[in-house]
Amino acid sequence: MARLDGKVALITGGASGFGAASGKIFAREGAKVVLTDKNTDGAQAVAREIGNAASAMSHDVVSEDDWKRVVADTLDMHGKLDILMNNAGVMGTGAPQDIENMSLDEWKFVQEINSDGVFLGCRAVIQAMKDSGGGSIINISSTAGFRATPGIAAYGASKGAVRQLTKSVAAYCGRKGYNIRCNSIHPGMVRTPLGEAVLKYYGELEERAQKRAESVPLGTLGEVEDVAYAALYLASDEARYINSSELVVDGGMLGGG
Ligand SMILES: NC(=O)c1ccc[n+]([C@@H]2O[C@H](COP(=O)([O-])OP(=O)(O)OC[C@H]3O[C@@H](n4cnc5c(N)ncnc54)[C@H](O)[C@@H]3O)[C@@H](O)[C@H]2O)c1
Repeated sequence: MARLDGKVALITGGASGFGAASGKIFAREGAKVVLTDKNTDGAQAVAREIGNAASAMSHDVVSEDDWKRVVADTLDMHGKLDILMNNAGVMGTGAPQDIENMSLDEWKFVQEINSDGVFLGCRAVIQAMKDSGGGSIINISSTAGFRATPGIAAYGASKGAVRQLTKSVAAYCGRKGYNIRCNSIHPGMVRTPLGEAVLKYYGELEERAQKRAESVPLGTLGEVEDVAYAALYLASDEARYINSSELVVDGGMLGGG
């Protein structure tokens, strides 16, 4: 029996990076996956690559109406919803994010997608998961949710919010007896479009990538599959007693040394 047999998963930011990798791995493990993204063509391309187990929907995670539609269409298509991976995110517009020079617009842009989007996602799926007998919500935070990010302060703050909100959702749903678990994943640097935007923000891409890899005890940057396999575990029933946890996937970087 595959690890996600019979489960239905909704993955935001499914056109690229961790979302696309998770879609592929979840489907291989028996799930029906709904990949949503603002980049609809990209999500459709990933769904085509996966085949029958996958479908794609256009979705802006900051829109309440989009969340209603995406959850309703998933229920229409599959009859239930077991897994939500709140994964869509941005680093910012490229404008300054240090505390002296950041505009309020830049701050709001990042919080709206990375933080408000995760709140809207958690809220939007609770009823559907209750009706499905329970579920697993996986919120993609970052190592930036744990430590100072002086050059990208809006991004770090948004990821701190995700880490903290996860705990309130986990405790609330647990106490209510909904059988809905909620956990966060904290990836280190992975060379997706977003990851490379962060590296380029600080300097020349290859030089920054090498420096960053050297800061990791395991000596390399991560791969998208490293995060997808962590999400697979949290999505599966193997993690039935894992709730409110912070799964760090960073090669040991946060641990130091
Ligand atoms: N790559 C890294 O090094 C890294 C590290 C830690 C955390 N993360 C987090 O992982 C998550 C996935 O990032 P990734 O590295 O796979 O990046 P990515 O750039 O490959 O993918 C992000 C996806 O989110 C989508 N998206 C952006 N805004 C959206 C919106 N408003 N509505 C719907 N979709 C939207 C994009 O179109 C894109 O497909 C993000 O939350 C990111 O902050 C990434």
